[in-house]
Amino acid sequence: MSIRFTRAAAVLAGTALMLAGTAACSSERDSGGSATTGGAETTAAGGEAGDTLVGIAMPTRSLERWNNDGANLEALLQEQGFETSLQYADNKVDQQITQLQNMINQGADILVIASIDGTALGPVLETAAAQGITVIAYDRLINGTENVDYYATFDNYEVGQLQGQYIIDTLGLEDGQTGPFNLEPFAGSPDDNNAKFFFSGAWDKLLPYVESGVLTVPSGKAPASNDEWTTIGIQSWESARAQSEMDNRLNSFYADKKVDVVLSPNDSLALGIAQSLDAAGYTPGEDWPILTGQDADLANVKNMIAGMQSMTVWKDTRTLGEQVAVMIGQIVAGEEVEVNDTETYDNGVKVVPSYLLPPQVVTPDTIEADLVESGFYDAAELGL
Ligand code: BGC
Repeated sequence: MSIRFTRAAAVLAGTALMLAGTAACSSERDSGGSATTGGAETTAAGGEAGDTLVGIAMPTRSLERWNNDGANLEALLQEQGFETSLQYADNKVDQQITQLQNMINQGADILVIASIDGTALGPVLETAAAQGITVIAYDRLINGTENVDYYATFDNYEVGQLQGQYIIDTLGLEDGQTGPFNLEPFAGSPDDNNAKFFFSGAWDKLLPYVESGVLTVPSGKAPASNDEWTTIGIQSWESARAQSEMDNRLNSFYADKKVDVVLSPNDSLALGIAQSLDAAGYTPGEDWPILTGQDADLANVKNMIAGMQSMTVWKDTRTLGEQVAVMIGQIVAGEEVEVNDTETYDNGVKVVPSYLLPPQVVTPDTIEADLVESGFYDAAELGL
């Protein structure tokens, strides 16, 4: 099943449902029941917004996007009258589990979780389920448990496809350019379910060119298949680890050659890779390689303006927050929760009903139109 709604229609529908639910439901806060799967009917988790506590668990404050995601979702829910509890876990799995346990103890009705390790939350979610709490996986899927009701994210495979296609277009590979071009691929954190989707999306585009020799990988770090992506994964998405990995590759394999393309799955890795390239003497506008990214983090958008990053895949996290707020409104109203993908995200126990939002390529030429005109950044903070 695949139902496609426009964003505006979805937000309007959600708001209408929420108002209807607010009028119709009792104000019993602990009347919660858990949602059934498949986007089917749910029982109301709280009844009214003001009686509903939403726990929001974010992975870390160390990456810009999660600060924006948390603050944005909290503000949206509070505007609509929900009680919220927002916690950041410093990228530590045990800390996140403790925070979730605290939210459950506080009487949370709904949990919105951007997990650190998507496979580590089974036991705590067992406790949540026993108390009828509805669980929404936020941005990252939660694996190995039946106790996750919904998943809201961007189309993660499409993120990788956009990065791969950008490289193909920029090198002119579909126009007959045969290179060979030197490519260095990177992948995200092995404990993050999204990372394999990002890599698969990109590698499905690029692997044929690697196999034909148009793209060569001097370091040899070219997974033979998508399943081998963890061999080039950067733990915890850390910039510093990406930087030292790039230093190693440049020092060991590039004494007599230049790298033409670096596939970076996101902006935190791209930041470290750019530092490594800079230290190795690459010059923007001259021999700087194509370097991809994701998130449109401020430092990376500045790097794009400075010629040190070629593109980023922008996921307007404001729209993700809006979609989750719509879902929460529907859950509280006891209505069917709108999803648009019931096939892709199998967590090992079940296919989690998902709402996927579209990611978008931003290049230096479109920063103004995409990021400034939409109000995502002020021109001044970008130095424009
Ligand atoms: C998110 C990316 C982010 C990465 C590192 C992924 O799960 O989808 O947007 O760059 O985590 O935080």
